[in-house]
Amino acid sequence: MKKDFHFSYDLLADWKELPVEDQVLVDRAFEAVETAYAPYSEFKVGASVRLDSGAIIMGSNQENAAYPSGLCAERVALFHIGSAFPKEMIKTICIVAKGNLIPNHKLLSPCGGCRQVMLESENRQKKKIRIIIVNQDNRTMIVPSVIDLLPFGFGS
Ligand code: THU
Repeated sequence: MKKDFHFSYDLLADWKELPVEDQVLVDRAFEAVETAYAPYSEFKVGASVRLDSGAIIMGSNQENAAYPSGLCAERVALFHIGSAFPKEMIKTICIVAKGNLIPNHKLLSPCGGCRQVMLESENRQKKKIRIIIVNQDNRTMIVPSVIDLLPFGFGS
């Protein structure tokens, strides 16, 4: 038996085409980029997360001389939410980045570990989390749910 998996996403030429509420979220992700500690990769990532309450929580990648001890921006933000606002529902996560590790024209995409952690948040709250990814050339992907980025992820 052959089975298909299909998902759709929106691609905008520029994040300024997003609704105002999302543009505010993108602005906050760019603010978060400035707090990245990335002396080893020189690739700075910012994440901003909108909660149902309207609050926006930010995170940025934090590297370490013992490389695996560092953490990605998305996980810094999500784990902070898990510990400080465990009952809050997450609406949207926005990810932006700055650096030469990924060429400007290539679409950015969260790493596998962050997808797994985002999936856990989505499963835990039983409600989809939208993902907005702003590329370094301003092209913007809007993905409706984490499951789209990690079909067959580990867990329930
Ligand atoms: N990074 C993130 O913050 N998020 C991702 O989804 C992928 C990669 C960080 C980890 C590391 O500090 C730097 O980007 C280069 O890999």
